[in-house]
Amino acid sequence: MAQTHFGFENVDEAEKARRVRQVFDSVASRYDVMNDLMSMGLHRVWKAYTVSVAAVRPGDRVLDIAGGTGDLARAFAKQAGPQGMVVHTDINEAMLRTGRDRLTDEGLALPTMVCDAERLPFKSGSFDIVSVAFGLRNMTHKDLALAEMCRVLRPGGRLLVLEFSKVAAPLAKPYDWYSFNVLPKIGKWVAKDEASYRYLAESIRMHPDQQALKGLMKDAGFGHVDVHNLTAGVVALHAGIKC
Ligand SMILES: C[S@@+](CC[C@H](N)C(=O)[O-])C[C@H]1O[C@@H](n2cnc3c(N)ncnc32)[C@H](O)[C@@H]1O
Repeated sequence: MAQTHFGFENVDEAEKARRVRQVFDSVASRYDVMNDLMSMGLHRVWKAYTVSVAAVRPGDRVLDIAGGTGDLARAFAKQAGPQGMVVHTDINEAMLRTGRDRLTDEGLALPTMVCDAERLPFKSGSFDIVSVAFGLRNMTHKDLALAEMCRVLRPGGRLLVLEFSKVAAPLAKPYDWYSFNVLPKIGKWVAKDEASYRYLAESIRMHPDQQALKGLMKDAGFGHVDVHNLTAGVVALHAGIKC
């Protein structure tokens, strides 16, 4: 079987999918509080920026991939309104269930589906907007997943990829120190899971940087791709147009 990476380790592709599932099974119940703690609330700003760039209009059909606990799906649903449709999806049932329960508690019932981004169960051209926030990094075949995202968009439709990226050089050392010393400790104390948060730090280093991801998106069929660096490149938003 082909090899890939899980953080800094080389593993079989099937082993990577199994271990990614284990990570999100383990963290699902503490995922939201961990996000706020680790990013000091910044993930809310990054997501709000993504929502503003997406500019979902009433009536739009939106697919949120790797949607987890539903932050983007919730914001998009408010904009798409009753004439629109937002489909909240994730490969991991524990994450999706946590998100669905949270949205239901807030009075929002969205179509929710377990699905693998590498094999999307939707007809070509079904959506105006596709989003994936902090999910692409965990996928085994990013090229396949991006090609699937392109396929399910209508011509002129847009993909928003929000993901950790390559931080500006002057911040690299303190960011490494924080990622490898502080993050796993917060994971240990709050989520009782140090290893998953070490994987988070490692997986960020293994993810394609801004230009490499832009290239992958172009290869997948996006004619135009804009890159927005956020927080000095800690995170980048890639916005691709299917054209
Ligand atoms: C860090 S969470 C992001 C959740 C949410 N989008 C957010 O921004 O808070 C990453 C999510 O990617 C999902 N994921 C990993 N591989 C996937 C795949 N192949 N297809 C769909 N989702 C996947 C995980 O199950 C997990 O819920």
